[in-house]
Amino acid sequence: MQENRNERFWGDHADIYDTEIDRVIGSDSRQAIFDYLLTLPGLGDAIEFGCGPGFFTRAIARNARSLLATDISERMLDRARQNVQGHPHVRFRKLDCEETGLKSDTFDTVFTANVVMILERPDRAIAEAYRILKPGGRLILLFYTMHGVGIFDRFRMMARFMARFRGVPFKHFFTMGETRALAERAGFRIDELKYIGGPMKAIYLEATKLKTA
Ligand SMILES: C[S@@+](CC[C@H](N)C(=O)[O-])C[C@H]1O[C@@H](n2cnc3c(N)ncnc32)[C@H](O)[C@@H]1O
Repeated sequence: MQENRNERFWGDHADIYDTEIDRVIGSDSRQAIFDYLLTLPGLGDAIEFGCGPGFFTRAIARNARSLLATDISERMLDRARQNVQGHPHVRFRKLDCEETGLKSDTFDTVFTANVVMILERPDRAIAEAYRILKPGGRLILLFYTMHGVGIFDRFRMMARFMARFRGVPFKHFFTMGETRALAERAGFRIDELKYIGGPMKAIYLEATKLKTA
């Protein structure tokens, strides 16, 4: 099947994504986020939206009973399959997170890192997360921000990103308040909203699908 534009953009960067993001974000910041994710207990049956080459997938896999790692790009999924070996409870599937086609009330956890800001309609992905979560299930969402980064370093980072990725795939720059509103609009109760990582930080949100609507 022919790749659409979004799929092709990410597929074209599948082989270089990890090394280039380490250069732009800093490997210590990515590692700090990874280490934070390792501390999350009891993720149960989990799904990841937009797993990319699987860097954070390995952290989430640690405390999940099962994990369905999904991405719109088959080439990203190929990288993830190579990078996430030795975890028989992790499966991979090509899916559009705005419309997964999966059954409602299925998962204990939906995890997604660095995806909402590149989607045309992030509200659709969050509504989809809500639909496929069991009542009481948890959304864990994070994305890198430039919080605490000085103006010159911001420009330097954007320039570095554009040079490496030959384009700017971002559609949104969410603040804390907009991140909260995104989840609340879908019906979630916000449990945590904070910065994690460092020196480059990520906005981190945990939210629950309430048992009774
Ligand atoms: C910025 S990368 C993040 C990768 C990984 N989550 C990480 O943080 O290292 C975004 C990923 O989302 C995927 N993606 C883009 N649009 C998507 C969609 N509609 N449904 C599922 N995945 C999507 C891309 O193929 C890419 O692998």
